[in-house]
Amino acid sequence: MKIVMLGAPGAGKGTQAKMIAEKYTIPHISTGDIFRANIKNGTPLGAKAKEYMDKGLLVPDELVCDLVVDRIKQDDCKNGYILDGFPRTIPQAEALTDALSKINDKVEFAINVEVPDENIVNRMSGRRACVGCGATYHIKYNAPKVEDVCDTCGEKLILRDDDKPETVQKRLDVYHEQTQPLIDYYKNQGVLAEVDGTVDMDLVFDNIVKLLEA
Ligand code: AP5
Repeated sequence: MKIVMLGAPGAGKGTQAKMIAEKYTIPHISTGDIFRANIKNGTPLGAKAKEYMDKGLLVPDELVCDLVVDRIKQDDCKNGYILDGFPRTIPQAEALTDALSKINDKVEFAINVEVPDENIVNRMSGRRACVGCGATYHIKYNAPKVEDVCDTCGEKLILRDDDKPETVQKRLDVYHEQTQPLIDYYKNQGVLAEVDGTVDMDLVFDNIVKLLEA
């Protein structure tokens, strides 16, 4: 099962991708998580990515494409994977299509999680991310058992730097300009599946599973 998650920042791609990866035992590959891990570990890639991420901009395609194409060639991706946050531009989608076509393969499902902009800013201000394992919570919709402490690893939960309202608005603008065109790109490939992301997260998940198993 080769799946791409589409949707605005904060639409719930990461939340759903983790659940799908667990159900189908496939790796969850999040480019945002990869960059955040590099920032945390002080790598040159992390330093470069941070310049863009903190401004709400996309990291340049050349820093992303090879990284993902190399990752999906690894052994654990043989039975599929779920890409979360990649592709994010038409050149990234073309790089993925080209890499897959060389091995006679293609994306099977592009799942677009639809949430209107007005819901997004509210969601982002309530999101809390674990500094240890990267798990994501929401103070209202998916609260940790103990305030500001990760249920999984016990580390501290923080508001991501790029979740401040002014940066979220920039990310939404960038999304509409550069990432939304991917909806048509995958529609034209006949693999687009759309779900309402405004309902409860378990219901979003049930609806995705129905689409995957139809
Ligand atoms: P990335 O980490 O990918 O950020 P994003 O796409 O903006 O997505 P988010 O992680 O913010 O949101 P999400 O859709 O996963 O929502 P979540 O499940 O957390 O990328 C960060 C940055 O890295 C980018 O801005 C860019 O700079 C760079 N980058 C990454 N990939 C790149 C690429 N390919 N090319 C170039 N640059 C790249 O949910 C959000 C909140 O809502 C959570 O609190 C959650 O608990 C809650 N929630 C989820 N579902 C529901 C629901 N149904 N109801 C109520 N609350 C819900």
